[in-house]
Amino acid sequence: MRDDSLYKHPYPSPQLAKDYPYIELEFQRLTPDQMQAAADDFYARMDKRRSVRMLSDEPVPRQLIETAVSAASTAPSGAHQQPWRFVAIADPEIKRQIRVAAEEEERTNYLENRMNEEWQSALAPLGTDHHKEFLEIAPWIVVLFEERYRLSDDGTKGHNYYVKEGCGIAAGLFITALHTMGLTTLTHTPSPMAFLTKLLGRPANERPFVLFPIGYPLEGVLVPDIKRKDLSEVLTVVGDVPEELS
Ligand SMILES: Cc1cc2nc3c(=O)[nH]c(=O)nc-3n(C[C@H](O)[C@H](O)[C@H](O)COP(=O)(O)O)c2cc1C
Repeated sequence: MRDDSLYKHPYPSPQLAKDYPYIELEFQRLTPDQMQAAADDFYARMDKRRSVRMLSDEPVPRQLIETAVSAASTAPSGAHQQPWRFVAIADPEIKRQIRVAAEEEERTNYLENRMNEEWQSALAPLGTDHHKEFLEIAPWIVVLFEERYRLSDDGTKGHNYYVKEGCGIAAGLFITALHTMGLTTLTHTPSPMAFLTKLLGRPANERPFVLFPIGYPLEGVLVPDIKRKDLSEVLTVVGDVPEELS
């Protein structure tokens, strides 16, 4: 039985619960030990995730891609508008066209200095360049489009809220799902990415957000030996922490 007594303003209010459907949260309470073990396992697993730039051509079943998109689409979003569209491509000819167009943009970035010196030197340890063979070799490319605004069949436009925040979270869940199911990807932004809207025949209200080549890593593939920031560099706790939380 629900005990609202902690709250002066319970959610939903009795009126809200009359006006809109509500269901009881499904929630599994873990013991403190189980919680820490789950947290440790998840962190250890995620710490092994790496961006892979040499994917193999080994086939990946469509069902896995679909499940990863379903998982991504559980992301929270402003006003629950889910302002994203995942476009999946396994067709060799379309993958080839994406590679050609991406390499053209990246050639301008890398060889004609569209990326300034500061940017290029930040990228230097990663050794990225304008060659994007993986776009043709990987069995799948998934492009995440942000839905900038809603477009009804009759052409009426509607506002979407916090589009980038929602898409960023969905992208994170997508990467996490792929990693958890034993696949690898690269978060890739061959910018400007407008060519993808045209090439993939997407409507004007969608803008490419990130492109993901997906597959298995090539046997023995190398990745940059990067270190992640220490906890103290990414977490700041403000104010006192009550004794029972320490
Ligand atoms: C928004 C975003 C855009 C990125 N764009 C590219 C890209 O265009 N090409 C590339 O090789 N890596 C790209 N990366 C991958 C980063 O270089 C990579 O995540 C970073 O070096 C850390 O490596 P890790 O993913 O293996 O932890 C991008 C990552 C993010 C989050």
